[in-house]
Amino acid sequence: MAEKAGKEKNGGEGEAEKTAGGWVKDFARSKLRLLLAAGLGVVALNAASSLAADWYYHKTVLDTLMHGVLPPPVPPPELPRQELRRRVRELLEPPQADRFYKIITGPPGGGKSTLLREACRNLGRGVGYLDVNPAFEVDFGRDLGNAFNFRLQDHLSFLNTVAQPVLGTKYEDPRGQHPLATTRRSAEALHDAAVEFRRKTGRPFVLVIDSADRLARNEDSEKVLAAMRAFARDWAQEGTITTIFVAHEWSTVEKLIGEHPVQSRAGPPLRVPDITPGEALQYLEALGVAPMMAEKCSELVGGSLLLLQRCATLAKAGLPFTEVKQQMLDLIELAFLQAGLLDQTPQREGGLRCIEALLRSQDGGISAADFRERVPDREQQLGLLGRGVVVFDGRRLEFASRLAATYAAETLRSCLPRAVAEQHKLLR
Ligand SMILES: Nc1ncnc2c1ncn2[C@@H]1O[C@H](COP(=O)(O)OP(=O)(O)O)[C@@H](O)[C@H]1O
Ligand SMILES: [Mg+2]
Repeated sequence: MAEKAGKEKNGGEGEAEKTAGGWVKDFARSKLRLLLAAGLGVVALNAASSLAADWYYHKTVLDTLMHGVLPPPVPPPELPRQELRRRVRELLEPPQADRFYKIITGPPGGGKSTLLREACRNLGRGVGYLDVNPAFEVDFGRDLGNAFNFRLQDHLSFLNTVAQPVLGTKYEDPRGQHPLATTRRSAEALHDAAVEFRRKTGRPFVLVIDSADRLARNEDSEKVLAAMRAFARDWAQEGTITTIFVAHEWSTVEKLIGEHPVQSRAGPPLRVPDITPGEALQYLEALGVAPMMAEKCSELVGGSLLLLQRCATLAKAGLPFTEVKQQMLDLIELAFLQAGLLDQTPQREGGLRCIEALLRSQDGGISAADFRERVPDREQQLGLLGRGVVVFDGRRLEFASRLAATYAAETLRSCLPRAVAEQHKLLR
């Protein structure tokens, strides 16, 4: 009996143990289920919120493209330049879809940015205007990304939730910091959005990159320029984005066309020249210069908007014309110095021979072949160009302004053969 009772007792304990064990298991199971459900809930919530964030992100980016990234409004410029305005407008909105990216060039201060900004504002939608940052170290990709509200730090956000509290510092992906990497990421993000933009509107998005010369001044940024050219070519071919580069240096234009001009998808560059003599008078008078003075100033400097502005400032300060002229000649002398024409530099000799040929020429220019014959070395050519003395558009070399020609004829006379100086005087 006692044995039975013992057994029963044991059996009872076993039962109780079993019940306790089962309870623990049940408890664990139910908690596990709860945890699982909570986990699933969190995952679902996370997915939903990231889907919502993605949707919102894409909507914001598309909205940005739809509304356009436009330069701030300014009063209309004094000179209407109707024909150029029409041609710039046509680059932004070609009458028939073409498969080229575009280049706008012309002397610095010739009014390229003004024309482009106005055209972008008038177009309003579906255009992004970006002026390359003048700072020497430029992260163009980041600027491009910021202009369009792109999310460029995605892959770092998780790492940073861990790294920031532990290390007390943000983790920066060294590859992500390279200008080429940010350019690629921004360009790809822009392309994705532009595909959507074209699906909705039936036309390509227009991207304007003003002051592209600023990308051509060191090795790293040159790679960025080359990358942007490659993107522009692919986008043009695809018809998703029409890229318009604005540059005044011929060497930049060459880089934009690329090593294979025939295969290049660069359209023929549109040249924005200096203003005409009639426009120069109109401009000076609009700036408040008296007609007699305006005539002399325009005769002295030619059609450069920037030089005319400077003359206007001096004239309005009450200086007589002789003083205005002297100050303007001093200014251009600095340009001759920077071009290496006034002291012993490798390009001086060839440069002076070009100046001589320019003064001799009847139409104010010499051919590319004549230029190369006098200055065969490329480094020397680059030293001469881009200083405001002479300009080259790939076909002809000319004086950058009438002021430069006047300085050459009047002040460089001692460096030039006598007959040339005399002949130029007669021509003028
Ligand atoms: N159509 C115009 N009428 C009057 N002033 C102008 C006009 N276009 C440009 N300017 C002035 O000439 C200067 C140079 O113009 P900008 O557009 O910056 O030239 P670029 O981009 O070719 O260097 C600016 O001060 C600008 O205000
Ligand atoms: Mg400009």
